[in-house]
Amino acid sequence: MNRTFKSFLAAAMLCAFTHTPLMAATVVDNKTLTSDPDGHDWASYGRLFDEQRFSPLRQVNAANIKRLGLAWDLELPDTNNVTTVPLEVDGVIYFAAGYSVIHAVDARTGKLLWRYDPEVPKVAGRKLRLGWGSRGIAFWKGRVYVGTIDGRLIAVDAKTGKAAWSVMTVGKDDARYITGAPRVFNGKVIIGHGGADFGPVRGYVTTYDAATGKELWRFYIVPGNPADGFENKAMEMAAKTWKGEWWKFGGGGTVWNAMTYDPEFNRIYLGTGNGAPWNQKIRSPGGGDNLFLCSVVALDADTGEYVWHYQTNPGETWDYNSAMDMILATLEIDGKPRKVILHAPKNGFFYVIDRETGKLISAEKIGKVNWAEKIDLTTGRPVENPEARYPDGKALVWPNNAGVHGWYPMAFNPNTGLTYIPVTHMAGYYNDQGVDFKHWRFPDHPEFSTGLADLDHSSSEVPKDAGTSALLAWDPVHQKQAWRQPTPGAWSGGVLTTAGNLVFQSDADGKLKAYAADTGKMLWSYYLGVGSLSAPITYTVGGKQYISILAGWMGAQAAMGGLTAQHGWVGRSHPRRLLTFVLDGKAILPPSPPPAQPVPVDDPGFVVDPAKAARGGEIYGRNCVTCHGIGAVAGGYAPDLRASPIPLSSEAFDQIVRKGGLLDKGMPRFDEFSDDDLESLRNYLRARARAAIDKGQAAR
Ligand code: HEC
Repeated sequence: MNRTFKSFLAAAMLCAFTHTPLMAATVVDNKTLTSDPDGHDWASYGRLFDEQRFSPLRQVNAANIKRLGLAWDLELPDTNNVTTVPLEVDGVIYFAAGYSVIHAVDARTGKLLWRYDPEVPKVAGRKLRLGWGSRGIAFWKGRVYVGTIDGRLIAVDAKTGKAAWSVMTVGKDDARYITGAPRVFNGKVIIGHGGADFGPVRGYVTTYDAATGKELWRFYIVPGNPADGFENKAMEMAAKTWKGEWWKFGGGGTVWNAMTYDPEFNRIYLGTGNGAPWNQKIRSPGGGDNLFLCSVVALDADTGEYVWHYQTNPGETWDYNSAMDMILATLEIDGKPRKVILHAPKNGFFYVIDRETGKLISAEKIGKVNWAEKIDLTTGRPVENPEARYPDGKALVWPNNAGVHGWYPMAFNPNTGLTYIPVTHMAGYYNDQGVDFKHWRFPDHPEFSTGLADLDHSSSEVPKDAGTSALLAWDPVHQKQAWRQPTPGAWSGGVLTTAGNLVFQSDADGKLKAYAADTGKMLWSYYLGVGSLSAPITYTVGGKQYISILAGWMGAQAAMGGLTAQHGWVGRSHPRRLLTFVLDGKAILPPSPPPAQPVPVDDPGFVVDPAKAARGGEIYGRNCVTCHGIGAVAGGYAPDLRASPIPLSSEAFDQIVRKGGLLDKGMPRFDEFSDDDLESLRNYLRARARAAIDKGQAAR
């Protein structure tokens, strides 16, 4: 036997034992991400470059879905957050959980193969206060790519789980942080960031060589100070649409979520975010479109040069991001095939945009919207309701800043011709009375800074019936509803659709549901043991079709107090888990506690000082609300502080809040707080706990 044959035999035997098929590994590159008609893998955030979240698989279908059962479950006890979309390549599932900890799991058995921990809490410093984890990862030629809250972009070897390279994509002390999924095309990995809600941030995207991490090009979304010169013609053009000294506020426009690569035009489309601050009266006094906020911007994928843009919200002033997913499709419109982008930004309209030219084809409302009457198809501009801009300081506007469609991804099924969109309906109360426009400044440390004195959710508790949600099936050609299914609570999860005439979505009640894609009839549901909004994926291994979902409550909506708390999911007692389903799967899920509401605690000896409690409320509103919830009503991500014994003791409270005792669990350190700050917070929390006890009910 020659050596090669011997090693082949050894490899074959090894494979027989480890059940690894003797197949060449799939090379995930432009080719596989452009087309994978077998639906073998789910190697990119939206499966393919087109981001349709559609799988051609039909082994599991509307006729046999009743046989779908659990194949296995992997519990993730050390993880406080799973909002991420997993990927699957060659029988291995990859996902980021918590603070961008990458996991690799055998798709057939659920066995954890490796974990890579970028140790975010150790290095993130104050950035740990801004975000909660990762929304997704990328895969390219044997490597996994992830961004971190502290702004690193890291490439990890998919076999070994060892880091290949790591680059810092943002400034160390700015308000930028990464939660979004990177995308890879043409050997380039692209990443943006968030932060325009927290500080003077000028948004940009950067591409790096996927092999080495070398920086290639960067594109700024908004213009900088004209005195410094413009980076390119696009910035010069954009600067004409701004007024005042916008650059002092950064301007915003961060690309924190959606980016779509179009192989047909070799372009990358960016979904850009809100202004910094939100309030245009401060950011660009006197108005202007403020390019390229709230836009779809097309760039040449090789050079990063501007090609076209379409702005959904000229002169935005409500946090109406266009950072929601952009799906590529070819639709027959008026008898002609058109290459289009399907886009449902926060503002409540559904846009069909010609991706060759960037011209608007059609736009209609998909929910309750009163900031604009319609979109004028000749100019492509909204016909606004002037009252919505809170000219006298106050306005009740639909939708609120969560948007009719948030970042939970939608899906498009070419067989039904329908787009399936998770939608939310909530009004936003905007108020800038009492804000000093002239002397308004971003605070010198990151905190929630919108340029508004009041928002629907910033000062008071949100009643649990303030928001409703649905799964909406929308016909993009005729711009009309095909069907609609109400979903529990105010948020409806990310969507997957398949050639088996199915639509999968999980919801706030903890169920994964399957609907008939054509009629919307609910065909199947499975209790995951915890509310979950993350999007499922599907793929095949060894000839079997699997469906996987990360379940766990939650990230993004934790701040919404009663609105999220109503479902009764508690971060510490309910599970985070990866579940995988297959036809005739018989595995049994470990039990999880039923939904419950926290019970506030009290110390009768604690005398609340109302002045301190009021000051504590302000400190809480600026620093704690993102994770612990409005009015100290926790949405399920971080503990409900009214029910925690820690604030009863000033030493224990100091230990955790100022000294960072729970830093490695994701509780940031507030080392700049004075003794008085801590006492004020304790007074506020006792007042909130007593208010709940006085209502004679559980804390919520
Ligand atoms: C970025 C999110 C985040 C922010 C912002 C945040 N916390 Fe936390 N906090 C957490 C998490 C997560 C935990 C739970 C950690 C664990 O699993 O033990 C926690 C735990 C705590 C605890 C311990 C509760 C208990 O019963 O164990 C206290 C007290 C606390 N936080 C106070 C605060 C205060 C006060 C603020 C604002 C000044 C704040 N936190 C801001 C995420 C956050």
